[in-house]
Amino acid sequence: MTQTNPDKVVIFDTTLRDGEQSPGATMTHDEKLEIAGMLDEMGVDIIEAGFPIASEGDFAAVSDIARDARQATICGLARANPRDIDRCWEAVKHARSPRIHTFIGTSPLHRDMHGLSEDAMAERIHEAVTHARNLCENVQWSSMDATRTEWDYLRRTVDIAIRAGATTINIPDTVGYTAPVESADLIRRLIAEVEGAEDVVFATHCHNDLGMATANSLAAVEGGARQIECTINGLGERAGNTALEEVVMAMKVRHDIMPYATGIDTTKLMAISRRVAGVSGFPVQFNKAIVGKNAFAHESGIHQDGMLKNPETFEIMRPEDVGLNATSLVMGKHSGRAALRSKMAELGYDLADNQLSDVFVRFKALADRKKEVYDDDLIALMQDEERSGEDRIKVVRLRVVCGTDGPQVAELTLSIDDEEKSAQATGDGPVDAAFNAVKALVDHRAKLQLYQVSAVTEGTDAQATVTVRMEEDGRIVSGQSADTDTVVASVRAYVNALNRLMVRREKGGHDGREISYKDVG
Ligand code: KIV
Ligand code: ZN
Repeated sequence: MTQTNPDKVVIFDTTLRDGEQSPGATMTHDEKLEIAGMLDEMGVDIIEAGFPIASEGDFAAVSDIARDARQATICGLARANPRDIDRCWEAVKHARSPRIHTFIGTSPLHRDMHGLSEDAMAERIHEAVTHARNLCENVQWSSMDATRTEWDYLRRTVDIAIRAGATTINIPDTVGYTAPVESADLIRRLIAEVEGAEDVVFATHCHNDLGMATANSLAAVEGGARQIECTINGLGERAGNTALEEVVMAMKVRHDIMPYATGIDTTKLMAISRRVAGVSGFPVQFNKAIVGKNAFAHESGIHQDGMLKNPETFEIMRPEDVGLNATSLVMGKHSGRAALRSKMAELGYDLADNQLSDVFVRFKALADRKKEVYDDDLIALMQDEERSGEDRIKVVRLRVVCGTDGPQVAELTLSIDDEEKSAQATGDGPVDAAFNAVKALVDHRAKLQLYQVSAVTEGTDAQATVTVRMEEDGRIVSGQSADTDTVVASVRAYVNALNRLMVRREKGGHDGREISYKDVG
C-alpha cells in the first residue's frame, strides 16, 4: 500500500491497544465497541483494536470491531511469531479492510532480553513479515525501541521488513527518548537509504516520557512519515502516547507550515475525549491542550476584555472547531422530559424511552439539589448512568455524621446481587469512614492506589467527580462517579471499581495480559 497522496497524514489510533494497556485503563467489551464506533465515525483511518493473542476478551473485541467497522482499517497487534500472527489474522480478517501489525524490540536491550543475536533476530523479522504477508495484504512492521537501536541495525531491520512485504514501517520511540530534530532526521535517513522505502508508508509512534510526543510525531512527518500513531487524550502507559487531538489540530491550525490533511472531523474531538476519559477512568487534566476544561477558558480580566473585543486576540482556534459549545445554563428543576431529551441529543446521547425515564429521575434529583444544571453536569450524569448500569453492587443509602470532634461515623446500605445489606463504621474523616463501611460489607483485598476529586462545574453546589484506582493481585481497575455530595460520589466510585474487579475475577483474568511483549516464542 503506497501513500497515494503525499500531503495526507494517515491517523492510526491505538487508544484501544496501547492506551488501554495503561494500568487501570481497561475497558469493557461494549465500551471498546462504542469507542471504536466513535473513532470510525470521526474519520480515523486505522483503528488498532487490540492484541488478539493477549486474551479471549481482546480477541473478541478485535473481531467484533472488525465486523462493525464501516470506514476504518482494523488492525491487530501480534508479536513476531506465527502463533500471534495467526491469532491476529483470525480476529481482523472480518474487517472490510484488515491489517496485521507485527513487531519485535530491535535495540541491544531487547535483543539481550530475547537472547537473540542480530542475525537470529533478522531471520525472525523476515519469517514474521513473510508469514503475515501470506495472510494479509496490509502488513505493518514495527522495530520496537527504534530510537535506541543502532543506526546500521535499524536500517537492516527496515530493509528486511520491506523486502518481506511490509506495507507500513513503524519507527517507535517506545520509551519517549527522542527529540524533534532526531525524530525528523531518523525518518529522513531511512527513506533516503533503504531500498524500496518510497513504496511503503513510514509511521511514527511516540511516547510522552519527556513531554515531546506531539512535537516528535510532527517532526517525523517533516522527515517524511505519513502515518501518526496516537491515542485520544494521549492515553497510554507511563506518560502516555501522542495525543490524537493535538497532532490533528496542530496540522489544521498551522496548516501554513504543516500543509498536511487528515480525514478527521475535528468537531467530534470533545465528545470522544469525554467518553474515553469516562470509560478509562483517566480524567483529562484541566490545562490539557485542545480538550482540557481550561483550554478555551479566559478568566483573567485582560483576557476577557480582549476576547469580547475580538476572540482572535487570545484564541487560535474556535471552540466549535473541536466540538465545544459555550457552556450554557441548560436546565432547571422545571425542565421537562422533552427538553432533557433534546439537550441530551445535542450533547451526543440519543436516549431510548426507557433510558430517558431513568435519566430523567436522576436529573430531577440533581436539579433539586443544584439550582443550575450545566452541560457538564448532564455529561457527568450520563457517564455515571452508563458506568453503573450492570453493577452487581449498588449504593442504596449513605449517612455520615461528621464534625470537629470526631470520630466520623458512616451508616451504609448496599444492594449486593439484589439483597440489601447494612453496616456502620468509623474512620479518619467522612470518606475514610464510608470506605470502611464498604469494606465491612464487601470482602476484598484490593488496595486503593489513587483517590482523586475534581469539580464538574463552578460553585459550592457543584458536582464532584471522584476517581479511584484499585489494585488486587496485579489487577488494576478504576471507578468513577459524580455527585453534589463528595462523600456519596466517593463511595459510588469505590463501589464502581469493586464491580469492575468482580467482573475481572469472574472472567478469570484481568486484561488477561499474562503475556507480555518480552515473550516472543
Ligand atoms: O511503543 C511501542 O513500541 C509499541 C509497539 C508495539 C509499536 O507500542
Ligand atoms: Zn507504544
